[in-house]
Amino acid sequence: MSEKERILELRELLHKYNNLYYVQNAPVISDMEFDKLMHELIDLEERHPELYDQNSPTQRVGSDLSRGFEQAEHRYPMLSLDNTYSEQEVQDFFQRVSGLLNEPFEICCELKYDGLSISLIYEEGKLVQAVTRGDGVKGDIVTDNVRTIRSVPLVLQKGDWPRSFEIRGEVLMPWTSFEKLNTEREEQEEPLFANPRNAASGTLKLQNPQEVARRQLDSYLYYLLGEQLPCDGHYENMMEAQRWGFKVSDHMKKCTTIDEVLDYINYWDTERRNLPVATDGIVLKVNSLRQQRNLGFKAKSPRWAIAYKFQAERQLTRLNSVSFQVGRTGAVTPVANLDPVQLSGTIVKRATLHNADIIKGLDLHIGDMVYVEKGGEIIPKITAVDLDSRSLLMGDPVQFAQVCPECGTKLIRYEGEAAFYCPNSISCPPQIKGRIEHFVSRKAMNIDGLGTETIDQFYQAGLIRDIADLYTLKAIDICRLEGMGEKSAVNIVRGIENSRSVPFERVLFAIGIRFVGETVAKILARAFKSMEALENATVEELTAVNEIGGKIAQCIVTFFRDERSRELVSRLREYGLRMEVTEQAGMNGSDVLAGKTIVISGVFNHHSRDEYKELIERHGGKNSGSISAKTSFVLAGDNMGPAKREKAQSLGVKLMSESEFLELINEKPTIITNELSLPF
Ligand code: IVH
Repeated sequence: MSEKERILELRELLHKYNNLYYVQNAPVISDMEFDKLMHELIDLEERHPELYDQNSPTQRVGSDLSRGFEQAEHRYPMLSLDNTYSEQEVQDFFQRVSGLLNEPFEICCELKYDGLSISLIYEEGKLVQAVTRGDGVKGDIVTDNVRTIRSVPLVLQKGDWPRSFEIRGEVLMPWTSFEKLNTEREEQEEPLFANPRNAASGTLKLQNPQEVARRQLDSYLYYLLGEQLPCDGHYENMMEAQRWGFKVSDHMKKCTTIDEVLDYINYWDTERRNLPVATDGIVLKVNSLRQQRNLGFKAKSPRWAIAYKFQAERQLTRLNSVSFQVGRTGAVTPVANLDPVQLSGTIVKRATLHNADIIKGLDLHIGDMVYVEKGGEIIPKITAVDLDSRSLLMGDPVQFAQVCPECGTKLIRYEGEAAFYCPNSISCPPQIKGRIEHFVSRKAMNIDGLGTETIDQFYQAGLIRDIADLYTLKAIDICRLEGMGEKSAVNIVRGIENSRSVPFERVLFAIGIRFVGETVAKILARAFKSMEALENATVEELTAVNEIGGKIAQCIVTFFRDERSRELVSRLREYGLRMEVTEQAGMNGSDVLAGKTIVISGVFNHHSRDEYKELIERHGGKNSGSISAKTSFVLAGDNMGPAKREKAQSLGVKLMSESEFLELINEKPTIITNELSLPF
């Protein structure tokens, strides 16, 4: 067999194994065997650049290229569905169809997935374009991002697929990926996504396919369009599409009576809670395409389909009080304290009230009976007041706090923002503790062993009052605290010591200047090269940097104008933190991985496995072949096998992506994304 033939054979095989693993949940080979085949293909492709194929299984991870989205017109407009919340209207739909068709018919019942709709175009069995719904007539071309979704086949399995067709479905973020993403965002004090739908659409619109790949989206396809479809039945076509490699729901059901339809609805109303992705209703479709054509379309929706939407579960309960929480940035969030009530399987005692405008809009009074809802959101919210149950002895109207509940400072509201802030950033306890948490977090100084509780304990004991105090900590003082062993005290101090070699851009991110996130810190470090230059920069000099706007510039100037910030920075300088960029940081080696045992798994883009082994050692870490409780983290590349993944999960060992790892050792060239202008 020639090398070219072997490449083609390997691509076909790996596409098949990918499908068995990601779509059918039925892997037939071990991850080691899979890795071996993938490596063989990578090596062969490297030797034969002339056989490059963007649909090769080796191309899944997406490139670093960032481009704006172009738009494409849909071949067939992307319509919506008539919605109803009432079973009676479902019965009316059934009757109407029955009257219009006047012949036997089947209704295909399926789940209504709550993500964002996508149209995929396949030519000659290959994915050529993926377009969002957009305005229904034209949408954004997001092919590069969609290519990173494992369950979207890049090349179809063998089958009788039409040479050209379109398939539509939903892009979703599974609950597990959603929770992981939000946990990370919480650590970084980035705004949380309210639900998986927002997270999926925010992700699909990123200009960075690698980040999209990391966030692990999924897909379900539910609508096949084209001139020569295999069957007259929608259900049958979808089953065929499943054989071609698409992820099609296993929960579609053909019904012939309204009772069967209603049973399906009732079953899934509760059972949907056990699904890995969010759903918000049931879609009913006349199954025969011939009958669909006979029924036709209205202006915006087909006559042959209807969506039944599940009621977001809500409960009536009493509002007892409102408390106010202060975050790291000083933002004050109002929280409703409620009589405990059962909602979607959990007991709810608190709900968010978002901000002062929402409280005013609801005209909330203490003692009111209020409706709490969870819907697709993780945090319950109050959606309405039951005015009928208000008595003459109505409680006081809820007033937003005037002063910080933690330190008593008068709250302020920045122009154009809904939130109130405590401006006492220097000595307000939750702000101090929050800043320390941010400072030690992985993407900042990456100091292990200092969780929320430990920081609180150190703070209470008077050991730390600001981030610079960390560098004065002594193991002897730490191990005097309750629950602190000698070993963990030494580890904490060692972790703090090691953080002195963290590159300047991460120090800049770590000190927590408002609006200076990871990306902005990188941009500033590159433009100004040192803390000193930044301390002296004017708003004009700052905004002269391409990506830095007036708001960020003003915050930086305000930060450095404050004598206390200058003093803090000068102490950090004294303690030996990096205050300027070092050329080619990362390649020279460091101690960032000191004391860490790392397992490498999967396939990588930037370096070979051997190079990663070398890099781990160069940065003070130890490489190990198998996952155990001693593993600090798994450097997880593409196609990490399920067995390893499971083992890591069961032992609570973290997975770190290739890009995160490169960032940690400060090797990766900075990618400028348009993160700053994203709509979330
Ligand atoms: S069929 C002509 N089936 O719901 C209508 N849509 O309001 C073709 N959706 O934009 C759509 N699950 O994003 C269909 N099983 C399903 C669906 C589904 C979710 C979404 C879709 C559409 C919206 C309709």
